[in-house]
Amino acid sequence: MTFQNSDFVTDGRSTKMTPGDSVRKKSPQDFVFGKAIGEGSFSTVYLAKDIHTNREYAIKVLEKRHILKENKMDYVMREKNVLQIISGSSNHFVHLHCTFQDNQRLYFVLTYAKNGELLTKINELKKFTIEMARYYAAEIVLALEVLHSKGVIHRDLKPENILFDENWHIVVTDFGSAKILKKDSDDNKEQEAISRRRKNSFVGTAQYVSPELLQDTEVCTASDLWALGCILYQMLSGEAPFKAGSEYLIFQKILKLDYEFPEGFNKTAKDLVEKLLVLVPNKRLGATDSTPYVSIRDHEFFLDLDFNDLGPPPKLM
Ligand code: ADE
Repeated sequence: MTFQNSDFVTDGRSTKMTPGDSVRKKSPQDFVFGKAIGEGSFSTVYLAKDIHTNREYAIKVLEKRHILKENKMDYVMREKNVLQIISGSSNHFVHLHCTFQDNQRLYFVLTYAKNGELLTKINELKKFTIEMARYYAAEIVLALEVLHSKGVIHRDLKPENILFDENWHIVVTDFGSAKILKKDSDDNKEQEAISRRRKNSFVGTAQYVSPELLQDTEVCTASDLWALGCILYQMLSGEAPFKAGSEYLIFQKILKLDYEFPEGFNKTAKDLVEKLLVLVPNKRLGATDSTPYVSIRDHEFFLDLDFNDLGPPPKLM
């Protein structure tokens, strides 16, 4: 298998141009590569600086040999497609500036979110105040509304994949497990069912994976609403709701909805989490709304918050 240039060419024509971006195809020589800022099973993300503009980017680097050996080409192409689909639709997603390749590697030039991961911040503060959790849960809802309205399910939403930009707004990253929903023809449904059976559908991270992703049932946007419930729980308690010594035991707990709230957990937040962590996907709050997620926005936890203008983010300290 070879990488076609036409498969892996993105420049200013297909993604949003920022002033100073050049139309000429970029190459690794256009950047100074700095420290590694993220590590995945098939990629490393580096902080890099464009030598012409001095702008900083996060460049995701993938080894071609490794991707081909593990047969992950589909995932790489899907991530690129998703990034192109969502490009420019919201500031809450990393933006794909361009892609290029050399003989050994593929490169995705992405927004650098300089304030790091939500996970790091939760761990640093032990837990968030109710105001912080409310604000960032609302930003995640806004991001999911845009994503789902474009027919994309993230499928691996978790505090490591939610970053903060320079103004402390969230930026969702890592669309490597994302799924693009097709129009609902019977043919597509059949194909999806076959491919799920073949691939043993688990994608994502044990602690945030929804029961339907574990059980080979239909994937749907509500899988990301499950993850939202897990993330809200974690912001307020410091830990993910489903914890155990192994992935297998975590899966057992998820399938039994076996989790507890720590003492003192905010009452309205508890109600919202309980309405998101529901085993049947279309019974989750928001699941039967079309976007925007009115029933989530209208939940008492978000009382007094204006989703059209969240205002400045709360100080994280
Ligand atoms: N780690 C992984 N991706 C990143 C990004 N786009 N910005 C900052 N840190 C990251």
